[in-house]
Amino acid sequence: MSFKAIHAFAVLPLALTFVLGTQARAAAQEPIQPLEAPKITNPAKVELGKQLFFDPRLSRSGFISCNSCHNLSMGGSDGLKVSIGDRWQKGAIRAPTVLNSSLNLAQFWNGRAKDLESQATGPLLNPIEMNTTSEAAELMVNSLPGYREEFKKVYGTDKASLQQIGDAIAAFETTLITPNSRFDKWLKGDKTAITDYELAGYELFKSVGCVACHNGPGVGGNSFQKFGLVNAYKSPNPSQGRADVTHDDSDRMMFKVPLLRNVALIPPYFHDGSANTLTQAVETMGWLQLGKKFTADQNAQIVAFLKTLTGDQPTFPLPQLPPSNDETPRPDPFAPVAQK
Ligand code: HEC
Ligand code: HEC
Repeated sequence: MSFKAIHAFAVLPLALTFVLGTQARAAAQEPIQPLEAPKITNPAKVELGKQLFFDPRLSRSGFISCNSCHNLSMGGSDGLKVSIGDRWQKGAIRAPTVLNSSLNLAQFWNGRAKDLESQATGPLLNPIEMNTTSEAAELMVNSLPGYREEFKKVYGTDKASLQQIGDAIAAFETTLITPNSRFDKWLKGDKTAITDYELAGYELFKSVGCVACHNGPGVGGNSFQKFGLVNAYKSPNPSQGRADVTHDDSDRMMFKVPLLRNVALIPPYFHDGSANTLTQAVETMGWLQLGKKFTADQNAQIVAFLKTLTGDQPTFPLPQLPPSNDETPRPDPFAPVAQK
């Protein structure tokens, strides 16, 4: 609650102050906090980043954009076990959502990028994702007067760099917050926003210990935890999580706890996409993380609660990209690729 709002209470009748004060205190005691709509400080940068997020010409094939794998029409992910990249190559791990990703303590399942700015240029250059080069990406962008003008306005430069492309995309991503979920409305005091059944699911989520790892405004995203804490997890996926970054044995199978915001929109679940449904994911979490077997009804209650975490999805007019001109390099998607 903002200082202004608290201050306003001082002039309200005593009874009302008491009621609202109790509600505010109750919300403050919950382990999950409501999401707030982002404040946009640099709209020109966000607008530029939005265009770049949707621009497939930033890929070698001219066909893959960030939105191909982080589809904002379907919860910011691709609905696949592993993503499909340049030349139909199979990705290594499931694509997490870009929604609310600015709330993460670090980016990627193993946290190898410290923030969105340093993350954004990764997929552009990744040979199994967009597979471009910094020269090719810069050449494309700088061939278009539309982009050049925007980069000039935002960065004061005549020539865009790969780093600026990443920076603008990251600025757009920080606006992808999804407030006003039914659960947030409940947290803010609207007790009719969720049903008794969903509330029972939330109470269970708290009492069995899911909140130990899934808490905060993102309902996750703020720690690395072992997948298979109580009972070991076996996956055909070779990823060892955090240990792949730190090379420390004690970090084996430590993964960033995923945000559960909008989780109903993005099956399949887990870094290897092994759980097809929320029911399966909840069952696995209960057994592996907490050593608990849920009844079918308990599981359904938790799933019902998780579904209340779907918030307002990003809505905006589809960005119109500067059209290619005579100087814009033409993609050649089927050309043989040099081994890197
Ligand atoms: C070919 C599919 C693909 C494309 C294209 C792609 N990504 Fe991703 N993205 C992934 C996958 C897979 C991961 C998870 C990789 C990992 O954790 O090791 C990921 C992870 C991320 C994350 C981290 C989220 C988190 O919770 O840790 C962000 C942010 C992101 N991508 C943004 C982008 C942006 C911006 C672009 C465009 C420049 C982009 N991605 C293009 C598949 C893709
Ligand atoms: C000890 C920490 C911990 C506890 C306790 C925990 N989780 Fe998780 N949860 C994680 C981690 C880590 C992952 C990511 C696992 C992976 O895919 O590598 C995860 C993943 C998930 C996912 C999949 C999200 C996605 O996008 O793939 C769901 C759903 C989930 N947890 C729900 C729950 C529920 C419900 C409970 C309680 C029954 C629970 N978790 C308890 C740490 C925890």
